[in-house]
Amino acid sequence: MNRRQFLLSASSTAILAALGRQAFAGSMGSGHAGHDMAAMPGMTMDGPADPSPVLKRIKLPSGRPLAAVPRLANSGGAGRFVGTLSAAPTTLTLAEGGVKTSVWAYNGQLPGPAIVAREGDTVEIALTNHLTQPTTIHWHGLPVPAEQDGNPHDPVLPGQTRHYRFTLPKGSAGSYWYHPHPHGHTAEQVFRGLAGVFVVEAADDPLRELAEDWLVLSDLRLTEHGAIPANTAADWHDGREGQFLLVNGGLRPVIALGQGERRRWRVWNATSARILKLALPGLAWQLVGSDGGLLGAPQPLAELLLAPGERAELVVSGSLPVGQSATLQSLPYVRGRAMTPEQTQPFTVATVKVGRTVASAAVPATLRPIAALGTPQVRRTLTFSENMADPASMFMISGKTFDMNRIDFTGRVGDIEEWDIVSEAHMDHPFHLHGTQFQVVARNDGSGWVDEPYLAWRDVINVPLRESVRIRFRQELPGVRMYHCHILEHEDQGMMGQYEVKA
Ligand code: C2O
Ligand code: CU
Ligand code: CU
Repeated sequence: MNRRQFLLSASSTAILAALGRQAFAGSMGSGHAGHDMAAMPGMTMDGPADPSPVLKRIKLPSGRPLAAVPRLANSGGAGRFVGTLSAAPTTLTLAEGGVKTSVWAYNGQLPGPAIVAREGDTVEIALTNHLTQPTTIHWHGLPVPAEQDGNPHDPVLPGQTRHYRFTLPKGSAGSYWYHPHPHGHTAEQVFRGLAGVFVVEAADDPLRELAEDWLVLSDLRLTEHGAIPANTAADWHDGREGQFLLVNGGLRPVIALGQGERRRWRVWNATSARILKLALPGLAWQLVGSDGGLLGAPQPLAELLLAPGERAELVVSGSLPVGQSATLQSLPYVRGRAMTPEQTQPFTVATVKVGRTVASAAVPATLRPIAALGTPQVRRTLTFSENMADPASMFMISGKTFDMNRIDFTGRVGDIEEWDIVSEAHMDHPFHLHGTQFQVVARNDGSGWVDEPYLAWRDVINVPLRESVRIRFRQELPGVRMYHCHILEHEDQGMMGQYEVKA
């Protein structure tokens, strides 16, 4: 056993003992999936394993061409994006055989309509809440004023309309997303369908000549009757995963690529809890961007690890003969699940089919300058931990669960802050900060700090169990900002803090 496996098995034993036999038996039902499917090395499954009978009865259409993500209509003029979103229950036909599924969706679409704006634009979005619970829209990753950022303090009550307004600063081009953030209801609102992407374009984009594909990855769980079920006790612990990993709302789509063509992919992990380890054997790809936009220079890429909430930009090259295909796979990744089996086999996310030769531009050797943030004015340590013995505060940051009436500490606009996010936890927790982008400076897997090999702007970073990550950032705007685990079940249970950035 290596160190990680040892920690995992030790932690599972402790957690299961603490949770008690009953909770475990109830959530696992009759499933023995972990053992049943352990046998077939090298096999790529169609999707995540599911011990329940659902997949025998519910089939989703698969293998269709990758759907384009519909865009939100813009009724503003030059320099202004003006749009309307309605969060409402609606019924969609997702499964075959006319089975209907009730979802909660923005403008009736799954995923929600994409907002595409430019650096410098003013964005005005009117959100109407047609749900029976409070909601907000959080502009995940965007540097928007705190009072416009859909904080849990600013709920939009059922029946209300809220106007969000902010300006996209120069340098903010990148791949973001928007989703609800009401306290205690975020996970449910997202897994029922409320999430959309937000792309900010730059006039001087060095990759503007490449054609783009967007891959919004989301998780769907259905019952035998095609309904989206509530979270189980196991989901509240491990984070929810579904039987279907959707790409732009479709199952295992076919993505077209010309022979010799280079295309820019933007990939969003919009799942609640799945840590995706993506591979594309047979095709060449490189990493060109992270959450907050382009890297300084393209980076070679083997596998792409994408935590919940995280995004990446890639350039994928059609390096196969015409007519051949490659498989975009989700590889097994052990993240410390205690009440549900880990993924043990690779499964297919999409198929990439290489067609006739298409000429495309070369990828420049440098993309945009990223300056390292200098010596910090402030240093802090935040600790991730779990206490399975206390169901009221199971997931903690620095020993506490979230309290809307508590400001955990204060900072100042313009200061360079350095935070060590230290995991004393038994599972991976992806850290997310609001209001700005950060740089990862170093990581420590227990054997010492290792400097990060290149600079990137991020707003989510996975903190593997018992490891540490050191980040630096600067907040340019005052206000109360949240930081939390982006496994949405953990966020809802209070694995979140808030600090006030003073002017
Ligand atoms: Cu994407 Cu505070 O969240
Ligand atoms: Cu966010
Ligand atoms: Cu977590």
